[in-house]
Amino acid sequence: MSTETRTYDAQALWQKDKDHFIHPFTDFSLFHEKGCDLIVDSDGIYVEDAHGNRFIDGIAGLWCVNVGHGRAEIGQAMAEQATRMAYFSTFNNLSNAPAAELAAKLAELAPANLNHVFFSCGGSAANDATIRLVHYYFNRLGKPSKKRILSRRNAYHGTTYLAATLTGIESNNWDFDTLDHLVTHLSEANLYRRPKGMSEAEYCDHLVDELEESITEIGADNIAAFIAEPIMGAGGVLMAPCGYHARMQAVCRANEILFIADEVVTGFGRLGHFFASEAVFDTQPDIINCAKGLSSGYAPLGATLISDAIYEVLGTPQRKGGVLSTGFTYSGHPVSCAAALKNIEIIEREGICENVLEVGPYLERKLKSLAQHETVGDVRGSHFMLAIENVADKATRALLPVEARVGDRVAAEAQKRGLIIRPVGHLNILSPPLIWDRDTVDRVVDILDEAFAATTASLRADGFL
Ligand SMILES: Cc1ncc(COP(=O)(O)O)c(C=O)c1O
Repeated sequence: MSTETRTYDAQALWQKDKDHFIHPFTDFSLFHEKGCDLIVDSDGIYVEDAHGNRFIDGIAGLWCVNVGHGRAEIGQAMAEQATRMAYFSTFNNLSNAPAAELAAKLAELAPANLNHVFFSCGGSAANDATIRLVHYYFNRLGKPSKKRILSRRNAYHGTTYLAATLTGIESNNWDFDTLDHLVTHLSEANLYRRPKGMSEAEYCDHLVDELEESITEIGADNIAAFIAEPIMGAGGVLMAPCGYHARMQAVCRANEILFIADEVVTGFGRLGHFFASEAVFDTQPDIINCAKGLSSGYAPLGATLISDAIYEVLGTPQRKGGVLSTGFTYSGHPVSCAAALKNIEIIEREGICENVLEVGPYLERKLKSLAQHETVGDVRGSHFMLAIENVADKATRALLPVEARVGDRVAAEAQKRGLIIRPVGHLNILSPPLIWDRDTVDRVVDILDEAFAATTASLRADGFL
């Protein structure tokens, strides 16, 4: 943990947090009673709470601390930039050194035609900014009717008004409003819960047919873009059938519908490559959005990588004296960009993508052994992006009642044993720092083995099984 030991008054902190911090995605029925666990220290694959309990971080913070915790050299790069020049505008023909360097580096790492970068402060903002830019692009092309965005049920694209409208996880928008007539949600690609009796190939045909039917119904002239995560993350680490993304892109291309890959989670090594779109899924998106692993969570940052063809339009003034009037005070923030540059340097220097390619399949294999537990219906995902789906009945795939809080139970049992994983409804998600080695995988799977056994026993004791 950090060399300079700070002590915390755990009780006072807990109270301040409970009284004043409105947390994202918090179940207030639990929060009012229990408050939050405060995580105050970190090092490598570990984090520590305010009581001094140490845990293996199984979620990389929130799918983002890809290079692991406590990287002094990232902190140093940020401190140097902050003391030299913490901030200056990037509007009106001004720029700064880290933003210029990072834009060029991202263009080098991204698929060939994505050479232009629009910076934002995170994933939601990147997706939000993208939709505005896409609409502007088609307006400029003289095709202002191309407005509708095709997204998918169970997709997660963030929580600005626009990003929440793209998001297809129904419960995320309970009693919130979304924008009308902007987004059509197609089916998610979910191999585990595909229609009974359908082969993987038939399922792929079925999803591509649905896209074609939607285009016929809405009219290609009214559709601007299709947005998709290469593997759906928060929606449950949902794996698409083989060939799905490339075929969806082909249909989009034939209808002049832009293909946007939301690589906020899959980017920066999680699947063993800086970007998964081309390397893993054989697609060449018109736009890739990234955030999270871009700076490994050391500073807020998002980036929209834009193709040469789109840039040609965006980069031409719409009228005399006109400007591209969009962007944020902190677009290309120098301290965040300095963090991202150092983060990328570490990923390259330490061969972190190579580690994911080597350890990832081992992690997948070992995790599959958990399928022996009575409530584990599916273990899925790829490399360092994995989920376990809990069920009441493996044969029918029926879920346990919501009141059983099975995901919470498993996560609590794991935490008791020194591992933090993420509960999402009836699922448990693992998205570790990309520096886990095989020994760590073995320890984690041993903990999970015990956690699932304890969960089964408690579900039985409470009459849920
Ligand atoms: C695929 C995807 N897109 C966008 C977002 C939103 O990013 P942020 O929380 O940085 O706004 C997330 C966050 O989890 C995500 O998983």
